Amino acid sequence: MLTEVTAVRYVTPLREGGSLPGLVETDDGHGSYATYVMKFAGAGQGRKTLVAEVVCGQLARRLGLRVPQLTGVRLDPVLGLGEPDQEVQQLLKSSGGLNLGMAYLSGALGYDPLAFAVDPVEAGRVVWFDALINNVDRSWRNPNLLVWHGDVWLIDHGASMIWHHNWPTAPAAAARPYRADDHVLAPFRPDVAAAAAELAPQVTEKLLAEVTADVPDAWLAGEPGFDDADAVRRAYADVLLPRARSIHERITLEGAGR
Ligand SMILES: Nc1ncnc2c1ncn2[C@@H]1O[C@H](COP(=O)(O)OP(=O)(O)OP(=O)(O)O)[C@@H](O)[C@H]1O
Ligand SMILES: [Mg+2]
Repeated sequence: MLTEVTAVRYVTPLREGGSLPGLVETDDGHGSYATYVMKFAGAGQGRKTLVAEVVCGQLARRLGLRVPQLTGVRLDPVLGLGEPDQEVQQLLKSSGGLNLGMAYLSGALGYDPLAFAVDPVEAGRVVWFDALINNVDRSWRNPNLLVWHGDVWLIDHGASMIWHHNWPTAPAAAARPYRADDHVLAPFRPDVAAAAAELAPQVTEKLLAEVTADVPDAWLAGEPGFDDADAVRRAYADVLLPRARSIHERITLEGAGR
């Protein structure tokens, strides 16, 4: 289960984000206030974006990759009443209940491959992980990496695991290749073989059960073709488990190093 906090103030939208994520101040109920980047359940992309953020973010964290801490954020839509921006007001109104929060890395910079080199081992770990979750959103056009206190942090996994938009295709997705030519870390000679040797054995049934258990029932309930939320959780694991075993054999890095 993810921890849960309550939004007490909407601070500002992060305008770069296509899904209009926003900064919120939160209260954990024990006197501790913190700022989170909030991804709204009512955003156009829908709740599967949030499911992908939790499954992939928690999996990455468990594998030792840097992803900011995730939490559930309860929102009272009343918070939107005083909001002058129509679009934001609408988003807050339609996102009552549970949303996703990611710890805000204050002062982080967007990743620029010309300004910050990554060694082949670290590049390999990120590329291998992105291949596992089929993340097409880490290109040089849109890196979705931040540099914070001298380290690279991974954000924005909402568009990965595309197979969950069409479950009948999921069994075939386990074997689908991954093109990393456009990956922002492709120029750094990613050592995906080393990453696979290190990380693949850690992707066990047990780990996937723990990671998918973090997805709130409310975001899985009523999925067509499934009896209950746990059946959907197993479907995520049923793709990721076999994919972890062999995806390193199907990563294309041709043209890398451009
Ligand atoms: N945890 C964080 N700490 C600091 N800044 C963040 C954090 N998460 C996101 N941001 C900033 O907000 C921007 C938008 O976030 P994110 O990429 O997750 O949203 P998105 O709507 O999925 O974006 P897009 O679809 O445009 O890639 C990021 O590019 C980054 O500048
Ligand atoms: Mg993004």
